[in-house]
Amino acid sequence: MSIAIRPAGANEAAVFAALHGEHFTPAWDAQSFRELMEQDGALALLAVADDEPIGFILGRVVVDEAEILTIGVSQSWQRKGVATLLVNQLARYAIEKGARRIFLEVATDNEAARRLYLSLDFHEVGRRPAYYERPGEARVDAIIMSKEGTLSTSGGRAARGSV
Ligand SMILES: CC(C)(COP(=O)(O)OP(=O)(O)OC[C@H]1O[C@@H](n2cnc3c(N)ncnc32)[C@H](O)[C@@H]1OP(=O)(O)O)[C@@H](O)C(=O)NCCC(=O)NCCS
Repeated sequence: MSIAIRPAGANEAAVFAALHGEHFTPAWDAQSFRELMEQDGALALLAVADDEPIGFILGRVVVDEAEILTIGVSQSWQRKGVATLLVNQLARYAIEKGARRIFLEVATDNEAARRLYLSLDFHEVGRRPAYYERPGEARVDAIIMSKEGTLSTSGGRAARGSV
């Protein structure tokens, strides 16, 4: 089965909300996604396997900086290089729109995402203390990560062609 990455429009906001809800509580609803996807500089991509959405990424470019707002890959499709493809494709589009740096925030307790970004040559540039709520637990810091310069998309490895 092959995996494809394709741009998505605001008319697919509900798909993003459903995928987001697989990972995050509270999930962002379709209206929130629609508003973000309609903003100037928005970049929204879906990963699909045989037309079935299995992953998403939403980012935006403001002047010469890009930001990854959210990303997720359905559990049964994880560790197959899908997020790597999504981040790299978003970076390519961001460069085309004039971005010279790309930023993101990740929770200190999100080991999988931190490792993903490190594998793609992002590095820590700051912290936001107690940024994320954890119901019934202490809040956790956000790590701000950035990838600068030419936004080389050589980091990580390509998705396995056949999964
Ligand atoms: C983080 C997430 C997007 C990674 O998606 P993915 O498609 O599995 O990532 P990839 O297959 O491209 O992984 C690339 C590399 O990242 C690292 N990585 C990814 N998931 C990992 C995990 N669970 N544990 C350790 N390292 C991991 C590895 O270095 C991996 O390379 P390898 O498989 O060759 O070892 C996915 O786990 C997810 O959707 N998590 C829930 C939502 C979330 O946390 N989003 C990020 C918010 S900042």
